[in-house]
Amino acid sequence: MNHKKLILLTLCSFACMNHGFNVSYDGKNPYVSYETSWGKERFVKEDYIKYFPFYEKYVEALRILHPHTINIKNLPYPYCQLQQILPFYGRGMYFNYKFIKKIFQHNNIVHAIEIGALYGLSTRHIASLLPDNGKLLAIDPWDYHAGMYEQFLSNVVLTGLTSKIVPIQKRSDQTVNDVKSYSDSFDLIYVDGDHETAGVLSDLELYYPLLTKNTGVICGDDWLLKTVRAAVQQFAEKNQLTIYAACNFWFLRDEGKYQYKTLIDADESIWMFNK
Ligand SMILES: C[S@@+](CC[C@H](N)C(=O)[O-])C[C@H]1O[C@@H](n2cnc3c(N)ncnc32)[C@H](O)[C@@H]1O
Repeated sequence: MNHKKLILLTLCSFACMNHGFNVSYDGKNPYVSYETSWGKERFVKEDYIKYFPFYEKYVEALRILHPHTINIKNLPYPYCQLQQILPFYGRGMYFNYKFIKKIFQHNNIVHAIEIGALYGLSTRHIASLLPDNGKLLAIDPWDYHAGMYEQFLSNVVLTGLTSKIVPIQKRSDQTVNDVKSYSDSFDLIYVDGDHETAGVLSDLELYYPLLTKNTGVICGDDWLLKTVRAAVQQFAEKNQLTIYAACNFWFLRDEGKYQYKTLIDADESIWMFNK
């Protein structure tokens, strides 16, 4: 076995351990295939090798405040409506933080939207990258179980991000008019809500027009899900947009035509949206 194959196999074993993927690679095929809970999928081999280091679960390093130091009544709406602050619960599905960080490094992001916030892991990361005057609207019905919304609010309170995160407890298709009252346009829209094709397509159709002209970035999670990919492809084709994707992350750029590009051949300039 040569050196390169050994490295690849080590990476694959690492992937199995860390992400629950059953990765197999025969050394000849240009693809790395793997099993996930939704079936067989595959990466272009080079894409996988180059971007594997990017595909990593976000480990939060924010300081957690002590609940006794917080006066609920002094918090902004809707946090001031909490009956009590629940213990911090950091669960989330967020492997895209290095891509998001790259977008922040190259662009001026002040007003942002996240569709699908769960308990706020990605929300808190995005909010922590915003400038002091930045706002992130977190849109989610938080209806998986009783107390889910209160848990999200408590997590934001305990990480001291109430001035930056505006929760909107609704489905994204019922919210698009509300968000216009916060800003005329948005610099970043992160799509991670409904994962059915119709749901993602609806998010793209409703929210893409809210992007800041020429500089706004729309991106999202779960490129590896066929349902999500179908929606992103349909939308990009209809609007003659370019899809960039690697690992589970995707974003759209207006390069005047519909095409799909892996990030492998792309240079750093594709992360800059100031055309
Ligand atoms: C995969 S989780 C989001 C994970 C989160 N971004 C993170 O990284 O931790 C999907 C979330 O989308 C929400 N959701 C589902 N359908 C939605 C819709 N139509 N509009 C907004 N949010 C939705 C769910 O309530 C759930 O919290």
